[in-house]
Amino acid sequence: KLYIESYGCQMNFSDSEIVASVLGNEGYTTTTNMDEADLIFLNTCSIRDKAEETVRKKLNSIKHDPNKKDNVKVGVLGCMAERLKGKLLKEEKLVDLVAGPDSYRKLPELVDDIEDGQKAVNVLLSREETYDDIEPVRINSNGITAFVSIMRGCDNMCTFCVVPFTRGRERSRNAQSIVNECNDLYQKGYREVTLLGQNVDSYRWSDNPTLRGRALKEAPRDEVIDFAKLLIMVAKIAPNLRVRFSTSHPKDIIDEVMYAIRDYKNICNYIHLPAQSGNTRVLKKMNRTYSREWYDEKTARIKEVIPDCAISTDIITGFCSETDEEHADTVSLMKQVRYELAYMFFYSERPGTLAQKKYEDDIPESVKKSRLKEIIDIQKTINIELNEAEIGKIHEVLIEGVSKRDKNDLRGRNSQNKMIIFPKENYSLGDFVKVKIEKSTSATLIGKALEIVDY
Ligand code: SAH
Ligand code: SF4
Ligand code: F3S
Repeated sequence: KLYIESYGCQMNFSDSEIVASVLGNEGYTTTTNMDEADLIFLNTCSIRDKAEETVRKKLNSIKHDPNKKDNVKVGVLGCMAERLKGKLLKEEKLVDLVAGPDSYRKLPELVDDIEDGQKAVNVLLSREETYDDIEPVRINSNGITAFVSIMRGCDNMCTFCVVPFTRGRERSRNAQSIVNECNDLYQKGYREVTLLGQNVDSYRWSDNPTLRGRALKEAPRDEVIDFAKLLIMVAKIAPNLRVRFSTSHPKDIIDEVMYAIRDYKNICNYIHLPAQSGNTRVLKKMNRTYSREWYDEKTARIKEVIPDCAISTDIITGFCSETDEEHADTVSLMKQVRYELAYMFFYSERPGTLAQKKYEDDIPESVKKSRLKEIIDIQKTINIELNEAEIGKIHEVLIEGVSKRDKNDLRGRNSQNKMIIFPKENYSLGDFVKVKIEKSTSATLIGKALEIVDY
């Protein structure tokens, strides 16, 4: 039995389903109970120091867990495996197997190796691997929503970021295999797919074998399947299959993506468009390759094409040399856009990144944290105000599950990705319902279902 725990971004959660599939072919079934597992895998994240710290603590707690099976083997997968490579085996002595994100096809052999007491490492990165022919085994699934990876790696070199080093070069997955996977999910009763990539707007695929690598990147739009076209291909599977995607990059999102969202009701009105900072000098130093003005134009354009589109962001406070005035530009950005959701972090220097090599991590932790607290407070106020403004309105909700607080309530999200809770009555998972909003908190809307939407 395989127990697999995922950390970090949705890509990792999605990869764990590929791992479960690869090992499923070898006779392994997944379990949610670590104590009965023969293999324990942690699919890890390196994005901030804290993410790695969490995994180290977990490895130690596994080592000292008295309930675990004798002879259980422990593997570290994902970004931390890729970043630390064989060091993980030597330093920690808590680990039997280390497998980077592009090596999951090799897991059966690696597992064979460790069964007779050896250690196994594979951290080779690939330029081609997209696991496009592997049918993921859904883990912890609600049966309604699923993630589908459409690309891997990242070719942007944001100076703070470890992902290009842990995930390797950017590559897109065969478009037809994506559509097939989504179609299959729909046939199985799923009603929402989220297309995943570090930078979905640079998705590109062509069936023409001469269009690969650089030639594919440089080919004119009408000769390739780009992200806007892919979105439409998936949206056409069925009107009651919702399509979401993450993450968009402000430098790459184009009008055609916005038109696709506007023209297809089942492509959700929600764009995760991480700004990172509101100040042009800091953005330049981060190598985000856009300015504040460029970002402002993109958000304005989104609101113009899709007036009720929700926008969310990621923000880093206290990046190298950021001044109080520059931080104030981030505050002004947040007040100006009024994001539906913001993931906020203080800067954590990562070994091997360009920022670590070139810049001094010179903002004291206390300043990083007080800037972070300031924007968290501002965002909370914005969320309260935005949610209060929804009271009395009617939203179409896809029911995803039972409320965590009260089993007589159901929960789901609207097109804008807002969580909505309402009494169960006779509604079921997978139904699309119209819900009238009666109350709100900073994170959720609470209402009453009016009727089922027929598709
Ligand atoms: N591909 C996505 C980001 C993936 S990482 C994009 O370009 O937007 C998710 C978020 O983690 C980033 O958007 C950033 O806000 C944060 N992050 C990345 N590296 C970080 C670091 N060194 N310290 C703090 N936050 C970081
Ligand atoms: Fe990291 Fe930048 Fe790539 Fe996002 S776009 S994964 S922040 S390098
Ligand atoms: Fe973390 Fe790797 Fe994702 S570093 S955020 S798990 S790509």
